[in-house]
Amino acid sequence: MLVAVLHDLVSQEDAGPDHKDVLVQAEAVSIALRELGYDPLTICASLDFSALTKKLKDLRPSFVFNLVESVEGHGRLIYLPPALLDCLRIPYTGSGTDAIYMTTNKLAAKKALRNGGIRTPHSFSGKDLEQAPAFLPGPYIVKSVWEHASIGLDEESVKIASHPGDLLARIREMEARLGTDCFAESYIEGREFNLSVLAAEGGAQGLPPAEIRFEEYPEGKKRIVGYRAKWLEGSFEYQHTVRTFDFPPSDHALLQSLSDIAVMCWSLFDLRGYARVDFRVDAGGTPWVLEVNANPCLSPDAGFAAAAARADLPFTRVVERIVQDTEGL
Ligand SMILES: Nc1ncnc2c1ncn2[C@@H]1O[C@H](COP(=O)(O)OP(=O)(O)OP(=O)(O)O)[C@@H](O)[C@H]1O
Ligand SMILES: [Mg+2]
Repeated sequence: MLVAVLHDLVSQEDAGPDHKDVLVQAEAVSIALRELGYDPLTICASLDFSALTKKLKDLRPSFVFNLVESVEGHGRLIYLPPALLDCLRIPYTGSGTDAIYMTTNKLAAKKALRNGGIRTPHSFSGKDLEQAPAFLPGPYIVKSVWEHASIGLDEESVKIASHPGDLLARIREMEARLGTDCFAESYIEGREFNLSVLAAEGGAQGLPPAEIRFEEYPEGKKRIVGYRAKWLEGSFEYQHTVRTFDFPPSDHALLQSLSDIAVMCWSLFDLRGYARVDFRVDAGGTPWVLEVNANPCLSPDAGFAAAAARADLPFTRVVERIVQDTEGL
């Protein structure tokens, strides 16, 4: 049975490690699909939809394993390939077009979270700040509305803002640097957790919670999992942000509530296949959802595969469960 493994078009020369990572995912998923008896073929999604449509019509895959994270470098176009697959009536793994759009647009996702009764840090778009809103001075982090993988995030992204004008200037500066819309979010000092969720018979299974610990961070150094921590192996941040699944009993109630919230996010956004919810927990022990990742990274060394391994689920079983949750298959 032929399966098209669809991923971003990646230039071997120019692409950064965050972008090349999708090729690692495509390889790992293809190996698992072969073990499951499928015949995987990797294909790329660019903005040339005529060529992609022709390819898919010629190949007639039974389904598409959708690994697309961006189209021609634009995270905000991530929903286009699944929208095309909807039109062509080809089943695809993971979340549907609407869920992908809603979760990739961090401002829309935060509004939906708030409406769903789930705490997410307070935020301002540039437009909000132009309208002289009620403002709470304090630490804010400025980040991209649409990008993932901590693109553009470093310690400079966190600043104390005393009035809306400060923050608006920071947003506009970052937008000019990244070439994409940015927004400001209240910075939550505290612990960081990732909760992976996998489709299960009749619902979703919260996988073991992971904490990212900031080890030997000097006093005053901002504790964020920025671009260096995720991708630059030689950096201090990469080497001192450590994922752990080991917790004292005193954390058990917190971990249960993180898992419950992650499964609530799954229902709220109508997610499918697999997802990962990123949290910060403040000094008072309150969890705040930073973002919901539909179709999170499936690299063998990334958080999802690590959480599955912790639950004794080999990667092939993960891929099998994702395929089983494919709508229309
Ligand atoms: N409001 C916040 N308070 C504290 N830290 C934050 C906040 N927002 C982001 N961060 C830090 O920045 C990191 C990246 O933020 P976020 O998860 O929103 O971005 P992303 O680029 O979409 O990440 P991913 O690679 O998970 O898709 C977080 O893991 C966290 O360390
Ligand atoms: Mg994140």
